[in-house]
Amino acid sequence: MNTSEHVLFLLESNKDSYISGEEMARQCGVSRNAVWKAIKDLREKGYDIEAVSNKGYRLTGHTDIISAEGIKAGLPEKLRKTDIFVYDSLGSTSDKAKELAVKGAPHGTAVVAATQTGGRGRKDHSFFSPAGGLYMSIVLKPDMLPCTDSKAVTSFTGRAVVDAIRELTGVVPYIEGINDVYVDGKKICGILLESGSEYDSNTLQWIVAGIGINFDSDLSKFPEDIKNRVIGLFAPGKATITKNALIARILEQMIDCQPN
Ligand code: BTN
Repeated sequence: MNTSEHVLFLLESNKDSYISGEEMARQCGVSRNAVWKAIKDLREKGYDIEAVSNKGYRLTGHTDIISAEGIKAGLPEKLRKTDIFVYDSLGSTSDKAKELAVKGAPHGTAVVAATQTGGRGRKDHSFFSPAGGLYMSIVLKPDMLPCTDSKAVTSFTGRAVVDAIRELTGVVPYIEGINDVYVDGKKICGILLESGSEYDSNTLQWIVAGIGINFDSDLSKFPEDIKNRVIGLFAPGKATITKNALIARILEQMIDCQPN
């Protein structure tokens, strides 16, 4: 982690309280001036950081920027070494995760994007992926999962999404047709599972679980044919949790489970 990343991690970890520049300098092992520069750099990137004399710095609730540091701040310490790659925009997080899986990426490696330009759904459908949504793909290793049967892994993924949303927001979604998560009769999340096997031994090598959630998306901008069939977790600008917090909770449930 460079100084800006470390400062961001500390601010994300102390979201409801202030942390002094001196304390951050101590924890990062750098000067107060280096911390100040990091704060300036983060503000330029859009982070709303409040500064109060004699108290320190605090990331305000208005900031909802997806970052690896923000996600890690919501993970238990033992999972903080997980590789998390975050993009403002990507073709498809699942394409990127599959590329990493083929190269041997470890269990739990996650690819997250704020928007996708080539989001994919099941049966070769495209998956509309504008800002306000949450798009993540997780590399899973079969020996680290409680199940490997495709239907079971799909419902395990669905349950992770349902439980995370319920725990963090009180909204109670449900799984529909094993691959979709619904709220009030409308789709809030789509799930796409893909896998790779060794051809000669026909052994499953990896699974990539792709999850797309309408978080605080502006549904009025959705294409006509889907706009009435989808729902967002929050209205635009009305989120009571951050995307980082939801991603962390889903990730934790998916990667830190009892293997078979
Ligand atoms: C479906 O509803 O048919 C499944 C949609 C799955 C969408 C997610 S978004 C993150 C990941 N990247 C993709 O390109 N697709 C999945």
